[in-house]
Amino acid sequence: MTTNQGVKVSEDEHSLKAGSRGPTLMEDFHFREKMTHFDHERIPERVVHARGFGAHGFFQPYESMAEYTRAGFLQDPNVKTPVFVRFSTVAGSKGSADSVRDARGFAVKFYTEEGNYDLVGNNIPVFFIQDAIKFPDLVHSFKPEPHNEMPQASTAHDTFWDFAANNQESAHMIMWTMSDRAVPRSLRMMEGFGVHTFRFVNEQGRARFVKFHWKPVLGVHSLVFEEALTLAGKDPDYHRKDLWEAIERGDFPEFELGVQMIDEEEEFNFDFDILDPTKIWPEEVVPVKKIGKMTLNRNQDNVFAETEQVAFHPGNVVPGIDFSNDPLLQGRLFSYTDTQLIRLGGPNFHELPINRPVCPFHNNQYDGYNRMTINKGQVAYHKNSLQNNDPRPATEEEGGYVHYQEKVEGRKIRARSDSFKDHFSQAKLFWNSMTEPEKMHIIGAFQFEVGRVKSKDVRQQVVNMFSHVDTYLAEQIAKGVGVSMLENAEESKVTASSPALSQENTAKMPQ
Ligand code: HEM
Repeated sequence: MTTNQGVKVSEDEHSLKAGSRGPTLMEDFHFREKMTHFDHERIPERVVHARGFGAHGFFQPYESMAEYTRAGFLQDPNVKTPVFVRFSTVAGSKGSADSVRDARGFAVKFYTEEGNYDLVGNNIPVFFIQDAIKFPDLVHSFKPEPHNEMPQASTAHDTFWDFAANNQESAHMIMWTMSDRAVPRSLRMMEGFGVHTFRFVNEQGRARFVKFHWKPVLGVHSLVFEEALTLAGKDPDYHRKDLWEAIERGDFPEFELGVQMIDEEEEFNFDFDILDPTKIWPEEVVPVKKIGKMTLNRNQDNVFAETEQVAFHPGNVVPGIDFSNDPLLQGRLFSYTDTQLIRLGGPNFHELPINRPVCPFHNNQYDGYNRMTINKGQVAYHKNSLQNNDPRPATEEEGGYVHYQEKVEGRKIRARSDSFKDHFSQAKLFWNSMTEPEKMHIIGAFQFEVGRVKSKDVRQQVVNMFSHVDTYLAEQIAKGVGVSMLENAEESKVTASSPALSQENTAKMPQ
């Protein structure tokens, strides 16, 4: 053993003292260094998705996707791209239980030869809100309440349900969150979704809107809620243990990557706005094309270095993948780097081993907290004449990233398109697609969660809100949480402007 300066340590059991019963001496550099490092071991946990667990693997496409995208890692079925995946819960703190009712994060970093591509998704295909400016409000409503730090990690909150009832765009995702999807049996048995609409752009510059899906080869399986509650107490590491052990015994988790694609010209051919992240694209209307498979075959070596220090960002894209104007995605593009600057101690976290691209990277950035690269040479600016190896931005011909040239126009305005106003059609679609036992589970979940809300007024507002999804569902919630059906319905803030989908609300949900 040595100190961090490389000096051999003679003894690591006793601090240096003035006499065997005397005070510890300040000059004990070994003690000081050991204790100081320990004192600084913790970094802030993620503001959301704090509890997570990762694994390494690879991705391999089934066929060339050149017709749709120029993304290098999707061109050749013989090429394997290394990946690191971090699964997470959303609401709880780093030390919370795995099996709680919650959405799950499903974030994948592809280390491609053209740079890192991050697909930062969830196991639920829609989101609670439509505009990123509401994200801090959403998160403040489901995190522990600020005055007493309770409840810890659960949707059984006055504040969460108060937010829901007063921000009814949340209806669709709440239906998913009250369903069995929010208590997965295993991380190996969850779907993943990019949620937002992205773009694929091919070599010729032709773009298509795309949504991403991960389909677990083992199928989708859930816990019964009572199992989830028991496990939260008996085995809070249930999911991470299951993932770790499966990989250790060679039973490698596999997920197929699927895409739904819509031509640019068809943008307005749907009864929902394809930029609205509270909407799915029903799979009967826009089929999912399976384009490759991810295999997780290696456990991490060190949870801090990998699961904790990994920095995902929906803005990490490679040529051939681009953004849409989904207002939730647009805001996410700002938030991730911003939070990582504080979580990972300054602007150089891309140099951490888990975040480094596998391809060389080179630019004129230098210095800053925790810089590890020793940049050499006199010149760190572009353009220059003093240095031959001036890193010139690549041009389109050289494979550089060129943003899709979408035409954009409009007045500056704080608003949301009228096409985002239907909050209930797809919540109904979800409910109608459920089997009887699944419906019973949803009712039970609402009764459990809303039943713990102290404010009768909030419980009533929730019943009023979900009467716009289904009368029987609302009646059952009302019965279970001690309020009447549709009391104050006239005063309810609900506007049930819910044009039916062309599928008559019977289209099947993602399988
Ligand atoms: C993590 C912001 C919506 C998936 C995070 C983090 C922030 C954040 C600040 C912590 C990142 C870190 O510390 O490294 C936001 C904002 C959103 C939003 C502002 C909306 C405006 C979403 C949506 C999804 C999602 C819609 C799913 C499609 C994730 C995942 C993580 C995460 C999976 C954890 C990544 C990891 O494992 O390290 N988000 N988020 N977020 N977010 Fe979001």
